[in-house]
Amino acid sequence: MNELIKVDHLHKSYDQNTVLRDINLTINKGEVVVIIGPSGCGKSTFLRCLNGLETIDSGHIEVCGHEVNTTSKEIYKIRQKVGMVFQSYDLFPHKTVIENIILAPLKVQKRNRADAEKEAIELLAKVGLSDKKDYYPRQLSGGQKQRVAIVRALIMHPDVLLFDEVTAALDPEMVHEVLQTMLELAKNGSTMLIVTHEMAFARAVADRIVFFDKGDIVEETGDVKAFFDAPKTERAKNFLKTFTYD
Ligand SMILES: Nc1ncnc2c1ncn2[C@@H]1O[C@H](COP(=O)(O)OP(=O)(O)OP(=O)(O)O)[C@@H](O)[C@H]1O
Ligand SMILES: [Mg+2]
Repeated sequence: MNELIKVDHLHKSYDQNTVLRDINLTINKGEVVVIIGPSGCGKSTFLRCLNGLETIDSGHIEVCGHEVNTTSKEIYKIRQKVGMVFQSYDLFPHKTVIENIILAPLKVQKRNRADAEKEAIELLAKVGLSDKKDYYPRQLSGGQKQRVAIVRALIMHPDVLLFDEVTAALDPEMVHEVLQTMLELAKNGSTMLIVTHEMAFARAVADRIVFFDKGDIVEETGDVKAFFDAPKTERAKNFLKTFTYD
C-alpha cells in the first residue's frame, strides 16, 4: 500500500476553539513530511489525532488502510503501526534503558525476551548508545534519553513514525545527535512525519513541507528549497522571517 496516512476534511475543536480546519493530507510510504508553523497552530493536536489520542469532530483519518476511530478496538492495532516520539521522552525512571525499550515488545507484541533484547542492543548500537543499556534514565543526558525514546518506537517496527518537536527540550549541544539519528532513519527509507522548529534540519530532511497556520494548511510543497528560499504565501514568509539561519 502506498498511502500510509490519509486525512480527509479533518475538523477538530476544543469547545468553541477551532484548532484544525478542513485538513487534507496524504503521506506515502517512504516519504518524509515536515510540518512547520507557529506555536498554537495545531501541529501537536494533528499528530495526536493520527493515532487516535484525540477525538475528531468530522472528517476521516486512515492509517495503513484502517480508519482511526477512537471508540474502536482497532485503535490498538493502529497504534502499533504508528510510532510516536514526543518532546518529553517519558521513560520509566525505575527501569533501565533496555527494560524501557523491551517493555512494549514483550507486553504488547508478546515477543520473546531474548529476541527483543537482541534487537534492542542492535538498535542502541545504531544510535550510538551501546554502552548505556543498563543505565537508568537519570544517568543519561537529554539527547541520550531522546535517542532511547526513538529506539523504543523503532523496536515496534512501526510503518510510520511521528515526531513532535523531539529536540525542543534539549540543550543546543544535544540537538545535533538526535537530528542526526532522524536523518539516518530518513535515509534508510522510513516513513516519517516530523514537527520541528529546526528550519535547517527541516530543509535537509523533508521530501515535502507542510506549513500550518491557525489550524489550516496554508502551504504544502515538494519543492522544499523553493519554500525556504521564496515561500508563496505572506503567512509563510512572515513565519520564516522569525528564524535566523546559521
Ligand atoms: N487539551 C486541550 N484542551 C483545550 N485546548 C487545547 C488542548 N490542547 C491544545 N489546545 C489548544 O489547541 C491549539 C493548538 O494546540 P497545539 O498544541 O496543537 O499547537 P502546536 O502547533 O503544537 O503549538 P507548539 O508549536 O507551541 O507546540 C492551542 O490554541 C491550544 O491552546
Ligand atoms: Mg506542539
